[in-house]
Amino acid sequence: MAQLWGGRFTKETDQLVYRFNASISFDKKLFEEDIEGSIAHVVMLEKQGILSEDEKNAIVKGLTGIREDVNSGKLEITDVYEDIHSFVEAKLIERIGDAGKKLHTGRSRNDQVALDMKMHIRKEIVNIAEELEELLHALIAVMEENMDTYMPGFTHLQKAQPITLAHHMGAYFEMFHRDSLRMRDIYARMNYCPLGSGALAGTTYPLDRVYTASLLGFEGPTLNSMDSVADRDYIIEFLSASSTVMMHLSRFCEEIILWNSNEYRFVEIDDAYSTGSSIMPQKKNPDIAELIRGKTGRVYGALMAILTTMKGIPLAYNKDMQEDKELTFDAVDTVKGCLALFTGMLKTMKFNKEAMASSAMNGFTNATDAADYLVGKGVPFRDAHGIVGRLVLYCIEKDTCIDALSIEEWKAISPVFEEDIYDAVSLKTCVEKRLTIGAPGQAAMKKVLHTYKGYMDNSWLKGKKI
Ligand code: ARG
Repeated sequence: MAQLWGGRFTKETDQLVYRFNASISFDKKLFEEDIEGSIAHVVMLEKQGILSEDEKNAIVKGLTGIREDVNSGKLEITDVYEDIHSFVEAKLIERIGDAGKKLHTGRSRNDQVALDMKMHIRKEIVNIAEELEELLHALIAVMEENMDTYMPGFTHLQKAQPITLAHHMGAYFEMFHRDSLRMRDIYARMNYCPLGSGALAGTTYPLDRVYTASLLGFEGPTLNSMDSVADRDYIIEFLSASSTVMMHLSRFCEEIILWNSNEYRFVEIDDAYSTGSSIMPQKKNPDIAELIRGKTGRVYGALMAILTTMKGIPLAYNKDMQEDKELTFDAVDTVKGCLALFTGMLKTMKFNKEAMASSAMNGFTNATDAADYLVGKGVPFRDAHGIVGRLVLYCIEKDTCIDALSIEEWKAISPVFEEDIYDAVSLKTCVEKRLTIGAPGQAAMKKVLHTYKGYMDNSWLKGKKI
């Protein structure tokens, strides 16, 4: 057991209590941030005349050495220490002696951990947004290749109207693009530095908080020292945005699982992203898509857990907040992993254009267009709806699709139909006539695609990689 706070105690901590209280097994993930924050802190302390130049140099050298040794594997972060902050400080004192004892001047573990976690989440927001961008690029590639790949669009999982694969992918582009913007907004809102808030009430040392904030790439310092050490809103926002990313991935996976089934055969997931069955030799299972869908629950779980943890905590810091870490770290790994795997799966997936077109053709997705044709010839829409309904019934009884009817069959249902009906209900016409902004017609889609590429060229991530 190695603690920073033995002075006031007359007894050793019970072993079980020590282990229950300790966080090093998971907050060692904050090692880099802890070192970086400490270096900025002592550089500021020296600038303010609180530490001498020699002391600052010794501390910075000591901290850099610890970082190198941990990264090279020479020094191990062990659970002898209560948390990562105690580990770094103890090692520093061990290495440089008395100067090391001055590192914690004007600082508390409360503002220290608030800083470390903020810096960590800020970095992971960028990592996740980068993964999102990879996915957006992959979606654009699929869209470009499939502007005229016709497929059924569904409502109630029933074939509704024909669309294109590009249009369907465009819907996901919109979702993941909003996810990326949500990450940008959270980044901007959280990017204020809590360091210098002390335990809760600031400090009597003349710290330059603006300077520390700028050294660490923040917009500026936070403005209320109580809030600084007690705020975990940004983690909640981040987990909420991450849950939305997972929800989108999960919907997409659900579709891919359906599309990959024998019944649809719209796509074939690459062998590298599928698995077999131990008993049924014919199987090629979409396990990766299923796992991503399944892992969505973990990320929602993290959000619910932290919302619940935070709801009854009086100001300012309370130990409950230590619970913000494990679940958030797990959520970060889950979201990053799922995004990377999903993008790989999408890039290698084969789209079966024939199966998609034939499904659109055989599902009466052009029935609305047949009705619109009649409307164009002066039939009131309600009557046209009834006529085409009878036509559909006729086709179902004959087990055929409306495109395959002879002109006599069309005319038997309504004499208004002429030869030009074939062109009017072809998939191509049905799709290409839909040209309002956001519709699947190629001319409309091309403009949207151009806008999407503009988003990518002006990514908010430029200059954000820390
Ligand atoms: N491990 C602690 C946490 O994650 C660090 C802050 C400890 N502060 C304290 N007053 N005990 O929250």
